Amino acid sequence: MAEPWWRDAVVYQVYLRSFADADASGEGDLPGVRSRLPYLADLGVDAIWLNPFYPSPMHDSGYDIVDYCGVDARFGTLEDFDILVRDAADLGIRVIIDIVPNHCSSQHPWFREAMGAGPGSEARKRFIFRDAPNNWQSLFGGPAWTRTPDGQWYLHLFDSTQPDFNWRHPDVVALFDQVLRFWLKRGVAAVRIDMANTLFKERDLPDLPSASTAAPYYDQPELRSLYRSWRRILDSYPSDTFPGPRGAVAEIWFSDPDIARLYLTKDGLPQVFNFRLMLVPWAAADLRAVIDEARGLVAESGGSMPWVLGNHDITRMVSRLGIDQALIRRPSAALRRGAVEVDIPRGTRRARAAVLLQLALPGAAYLYQGDELGLPEYLAIPDDRRKDPTFHRTGGAAIGRDGCRVPMPWSGNAPPYGFADGPVPTWLPQPPDWAALTVAAELSETGSMLQLYRAALLLRREHPALGDGEMTWVESSNAELAFTREPGFEFMANLGDSPAPLPAGCRVILASGPLDSGRLPADTAVWLDRAV
Ligand code: BGC
Repeated sequence: MAEPWWRDAVVYQVYLRSFADADASGEGDLPGVRSRLPYLADLGVDAIWLNPFYPSPMHDSGYDIVDYCGVDARFGTLEDFDILVRDAADLGIRVIIDIVPNHCSSQHPWFREAMGAGPGSEARKRFIFRDAPNNWQSLFGGPAWTRTPDGQWYLHLFDSTQPDFNWRHPDVVALFDQVLRFWLKRGVAAVRIDMANTLFKERDLPDLPSASTAAPYYDQPELRSLYRSWRRILDSYPSDTFPGPRGAVAEIWFSDPDIARLYLTKDGLPQVFNFRLMLVPWAAADLRAVIDEARGLVAESGGSMPWVLGNHDITRMVSRLGIDQALIRRPSAALRRGAVEVDIPRGTRRARAAVLLQLALPGAAYLYQGDELGLPEYLAIPDDRRKDPTFHRTGGAAIGRDGCRVPMPWSGNAPPYGFADGPVPTWLPQPPDWAALTVAAELSETGSMLQLYRAALLLRREHPALGDGEMTWVESSNAELAFTREPGFEFMANLGDSPAPLPAGCRVILASGPLDSGRLPADTAVWLDRAV
């Protein structure tokens, strides 16, 4: 039987608000994505994942949802969505959407009803109301509880405008069954499940004894049967447009592989994101360890863990790889204080090598919009233009995620760089010095980051060794990463300080940067053909 498509798909994350603006509102929209489909097809991706486009007051950029089966007017209409799915399919591109089940918006009709209905009401049971809060903190900073005018408190693991659902209430279960079916019928190929590990909380909501203990809102056992039931729903909608089943990828930030094991079950959600490449220092031993851990998890579970190098929640790759790597896990506060030097040329060299690593590894890959242009984190956004609730809820101590969400530069020499037609102010400001980083500029520059991505994606499609499958480490020095894949492919990266010899009898088919008299310079990677 053929492997499901998601096992080796390359998925491009479209951060809708910042991708392309067709109606000159300063925010991206669905018709904007549609107009840029040829760009995505030329880039060579198999699918796009759209961040939330549902009606929302946008307190958390659309992760605060008022209607799970609609489209916010700022992004277009349901018809625009249908047209996008159809046109994408015509170009061979699948569409993946974001499902946000942990919480809704405080403007959602159920929460408004709950607020009006008062303590003890049925309407409050769909959420987590209590007479007194526990000591949980919001993942965005500050307390996880907000007091209502009648004296009760409601739980929100994120912003106070994002009340958590009570997943032990049958209405909540039924709502999301219906939401999944609604979008599957409209032709989505897969769903990304936001915060897939926090839906259930321990029943009596115990205090968290210390910051280092496993929080009682993660990984509760009921998630297993919930995801089994979602898998049955997904499997009951055979795709009409593309061959193969519908997919689902769970957003789980884990550091302990045992946590990933809870989700990688045969009958649960078919994929769990692998964020580990983003969270370890740029060092051969660290990368090898997380790659081996994932290979083990995939082999034992039969599941799939797409590799991720960037997304809308994390400091941009070229900036992340350009700072002191001891800070890699939590660069936010240091970046905010300006307490860390960001070496963009170095980060860019490493990012180029990193993407060749990502695309050579067995399995699927997620690319984040703008990483293919090498966009750096925009650190100089004025405080009064910042939107991310994490910035505001920490009193500005955390820099927040706005810097990786800046509207895409498509062309031209000044903002809005072709993001919108005409000189509209964009919802987040763009830096004044991105003229060389636009799509148009990089398309005409030999060796640009964009050219590297296009070449790598084309080769990945054509080369029989790439995509899903096996890999074998090649013994190498501590500063290098090298592995082979059959037939005839070898990957090598130099993460040390001085040039390294290339293996004999190989031909370079793609390099992340210039070679040094036939040797592999520091922070450079190559794809090699061993068949010569
Ligand atoms: C999303 C974030 C969002 C949060 C709350 C996440 O993990 O990726 O962007 O703020 O969930 O919905």
